[in-house]
Amino acid sequence: MLAAGRDIYSSRCARCHGGSGGGGTGPKLADGEVVANFPEIADQIDLIRDGKNGMPSFAGGLSDDQLVAVARYTREVLG
Ligand code: HEC
Repeated sequence: MLAAGRDIYSSRCARCHGGSGGGGTGPKLADGEVVANFPEIADQIDLIRDGKNGMPSFAGGLSDDQLVAVARYTREVLG
């Protein structure tokens, strides 16, 4: 699951959030930022699914399993 999350992250998220989650166009996700801002993984998944301001919606682009995989990758590997 985390390997799938890594592949999704590299192809869909890294261009804005940086290869190691250090940030860029989008905010930093590493160093505990994501877990601090989203104590519940479900809230983080909602944001990724729905988008917000400059953050695109992935509702049509990622399945529920893929949303969980990429959210876990940002929390458990980058985080
Ligand atoms: C086009 C650039 C772009 C892409 C691609 C992108 N993001 Fe974002 N992301 C943003 C921006 C900009 C924000 C800040 C949104 C706001 O709060 O105004 C954001 C916010 C977030 C946040 C909330 C961060 C926080 O601490 O508030 C998470 C989590 C996140 N993105 C995850 C992802 C994931 C996972 C992907 C890939 C599936 C992704 N993003 C793809 C630009 C992007």
